[in-house]
Amino acid sequence: MTDLHTQPSAATPAADEALEVTREEAAQALRPAPSPEEIARLREDFPILTRTVRGGKPLVYLDSGATSQKPRSVLDAERDFYEHHNAAVHRGAHQLAEEATDLYESARERIGAFVGAPSREIVFTRNGTEAINLVAYALSNANAPGALDGVDPEIADRLRIGPGDEVCVTAMEHHANLVPWQEFCRRTGATLTWIDIDESGELDPELSAITERTKVVAFTHVSNVLGTLTDVPRIVEKARSVGALTVLDACQSVPHIPVDVADLGVDFLAFTGHKLLGPSGIGVLWGRYELLEALPPYVTGGSMIELVRMDASSYAAPPQRFEAGVPMTAQVVGLGAAVDYLSEVGMDRVAAHDRDLVAYALERLAERPWVRVLGPTDPDRHVGAVAFVIDGVHPHDVGQVLDDSGVAVRTGHHCAWPLHRALRVPASTRASFHVYTTREEIDAFVEALDRVPEIFGVA
Ligand code: ALA
Repeated sequence: MTDLHTQPSAATPAADEALEVTREEAAQALRPAPSPEEIARLREDFPILTRTVRGGKPLVYLDSGATSQKPRSVLDAERDFYEHHNAAVHRGAHQLAEEATDLYESARERIGAFVGAPSREIVFTRNGTEAINLVAYALSNANAPGALDGVDPEIADRLRIGPGDEVCVTAMEHHANLVPWQEFCRRTGATLTWIDIDESGELDPELSAITERTKVVAFTHVSNVLGTLTDVPRIVEKARSVGALTVLDACQSVPHIPVDVADLGVDFLAFTGHKLLGPSGIGVLWGRYELLEALPPYVTGGSMIELVRMDASSYAAPPQRFEAGVPMTAQVVGLGAAVDYLSEVGMDRVAAHDRDLVAYALERLAERPWVRVLGPTDPDRHVGAVAFVIDGVHPHDVGQVLDDSGVAVRTGHHCAWPLHRALRVPASTRASFHVYTTREEIDAFVEALDRVPEIFGVA
């Protein structure tokens, strides 16, 4: 697919060019979105969508950015695992252990294929946050004496980070891709820098925070608040030009658009299962194998070892090196079913549906002059979510009015406090979508929103 959000650019960008990426080219390569009838049928796969809330009102679930709902096939896969195959994987000489291991490893294959990666580059974690922490802790462990013995000197040099080096993030990161790097810098003596964002939600186009001293650039693919796509090719290009490692938070992109790790050109990519129609308690770290192979472990214990003596141990090859203890087996099996479900619909069609929903939501919100959408309002730059404020009304009050009509949204700073400070708002309201969201639900949301100015006396 030749879209701007997955292809590294070969051209050197002009410094004054806006740091923007659109879905336009991607849209041309996409098959059309599923028809309303198809979405209506697909909704029947999600049992929770039939329930009512707040005294019999139909549930309008616009909080998929926080967590998605789960199709029956995911619920069934987990239940089937516990009912028929439950055993600890990679241990035990019995049939159940073998079946459980096969289900676990087959899910790893399909989850890897879903993002274009071989299974040996897929590490299971508890969530996206833990996947990013794994990279940050394993990297800081690389400074321990002997940790990089035997590692190719060029790779070892990239992994050894300390005083005088810089780790660069962006000011729009979810706390999950900020706090681990703050802690990393505290432990290693490196300095944290960041690509600034202006009041309109645009990142500094010159990327001046990436310097010759930068050893890691950790950034988001899609802002969890604004829903805007980051210009991955340009950031990767600049990071590569200074030899920095790149870590991409793909928690809000993998559920909505086709993602291929080779096309993106990053070194590590983290995503979570529960936003991807999968269970909670399962996240994924993808890493280039030569880097995973060079990194020391983060959590140690059983399963991740090669040889154990009383005085020291050696470690298994990745991905096992990073999966100490009995892993989240039923969750992995459930996530395997989730990627099967999305692959069956087709991620190009999921993305086309998402594009239609964000465009429609932005159009309906633009009809209301008292609503201020945060960040760019071009639908081609949005994925999965739209955030807004109503001046004079706290987002929590907005959320309550919507909830009273059965509409579920997220309010607050959405674990992205610095972003809200940069936008000069204390908090926001976010409506976020998934493959089961309909235009009718967006109508219900804006109609419920119309009660806000009435109730709070703002125009
Ligand atoms: N990270 C999730 C969100 O953005 C919880 O809402």
